[in-house]
Amino acid sequence: MNYYIGLDLGTSGVKGVLFDSLGNVIESYLEEYDIISIKNGYAEEDPNIWLDKTIKVLKSIGKLDISKNIKGLALSGQMHGLVLLDEGDNVLRNSIIWCDNRTDNERDVLRNEITNDRLKAITGNIAMAPFTLAKLLWVKNNEPDIYNRINKVMVPKDYINYMLTKEFCAEYSDSSGMQIMDINKLEYSKELLDYFNIPIEWFGSLKSSSDIIGYLSKEIEQKTGLSNVFVCAGAGDQAAGALGNGIVNSSDLSIVLGSSGVVFSPTEKLYIAQNGEVQSFSTALKGKYHIMGVTNGCGTSLKWLRDNMFNISYNEMTNLAKEALCGSNGLYYLPYLMGERTPILDSNAKGVFMGIKNTTSKGEMIRAVMEGVGYSIKDCYNLIKDEKNKVLISGGGAKSKLYKEIIASMINKPVIQIKQDEGPSLGAAILAMMAGNEYNSFDECISRIITVDNITYPNNEWVAIYNKGYDIYKKLYINNKDIFKEI
Ligand code: XUL
Repeated sequence: MNYYIGLDLGTSGVKGVLFDSLGNVIESYLEEYDIISIKNGYAEEDPNIWLDKTIKVLKSIGKLDISKNIKGLALSGQMHGLVLLDEGDNVLRNSIIWCDNRTDNERDVLRNEITNDRLKAITGNIAMAPFTLAKLLWVKNNEPDIYNRINKVMVPKDYINYMLTKEFCAEYSDSSGMQIMDINKLEYSKELLDYFNIPIEWFGSLKSSSDIIGYLSKEIEQKTGLSNVFVCAGAGDQAAGALGNGIVNSSDLSIVLGSSGVVFSPTEKLYIAQNGEVQSFSTALKGKYHIMGVTNGCGTSLKWLRDNMFNISYNEMTNLAKEALCGSNGLYYLPYLMGERTPILDSNAKGVFMGIKNTTSKGEMIRAVMEGVGYSIKDCYNLIKDEKNKVLISGGGAKSKLYKEIIASMINKPVIQIKQDEGPSLGAAILAMMAGNEYNSFDECISRIITVDNITYPNNEWVAIYNKGYDIYKKLYINNKDIFKEI
């Protein structure tokens, strides 16, 4: 039997999962790190730490007896982050990551000078502050010394791929989130690069997600104990996660409750939203597209409550939340801790608890956070739901039965959870399995690997409460929109 590693370079850690070629988990290792936030709205991480932690994870896998039967690996990566290297391949600054909120001015330049219509035609999306191009322009405007030393620009997982193999590559799913790639032609947009005088040589050569880009370098082999392992181009975390959840058809929709909350669906053709309500990207299958809506502060909201307020485990939090009634006794939460993407595209938006009373309990606060995220997922779902048969749910939040019931009731649709709960890591490993010729097609691979575990049905009483609550949730943002700018 051959074995494959799926590495998920996430926001809060890097996870390496070893799978056999039937998708069974053999071992899993996690190394954590934190977002560095030196200023309100700033979110950075150190690529050197990602690399050290990735090597640690690979070293643990390299110690396993069966490690000599590992054929290949692939990465799934947090999207949109900016990694800059100098001529000697040194990291020039911390990576500005996906949920950073400093690039409104650069977004406005894109919108005013290139125009949203032109950007939609080239990249499939309107000018987007969170995407990599706006981050690169921010460095140009604010850190010219660094900008002048740039030799390579990449997104997070492509940096790790480069450090593991010394092959300077990129791939379609993650690069479509940079706002530099022509999404129809699947090549870097000369028009955009020329306009901003950005050399095309700064970007890695574009591959398909399941293309082998190279093998672990001798140096990495020595550090990890792995040998003769190929590395695939990999995919952005949402594209990889969809694959790992068995989502390849446009009739399927997935909800991921991770650091970010994502509602995702493949599309028959490239779909371009008029005003950026949803984003369009390439999937991990060449020439295929998907749309998605993003809640920035999904897992981040509960993590904030756990780490900064309550200091208890997630299990204890869920138990407290179970004691609260549906609707959290009139307590509402807006999950805009890191601004918000879908549908409001507002980097000034902030987190809000509304309706605190002298009786408000911890459990109500926790449940209100889950419900606030749920309303935000409903926002995304409403934009994507048409003609979808199946809704799959995954991610850390889907470990909680209560959270799943809240989401199913919010969208009034059963949510299906599969047995294989490794999402992006499994999706990445599937890419490596395809490269290792284990299966003839993605469909065949998925039908052999993915099985349904459980279905959570909407609770009718909750559906009615959430339908009313949704109106209040919407008003809370609209009525406070201007105040957010001032605070
Ligand atoms: C996708 C997005 C997030 C990050 C982190 O557009 O911003 O999913 O990739 O998970």
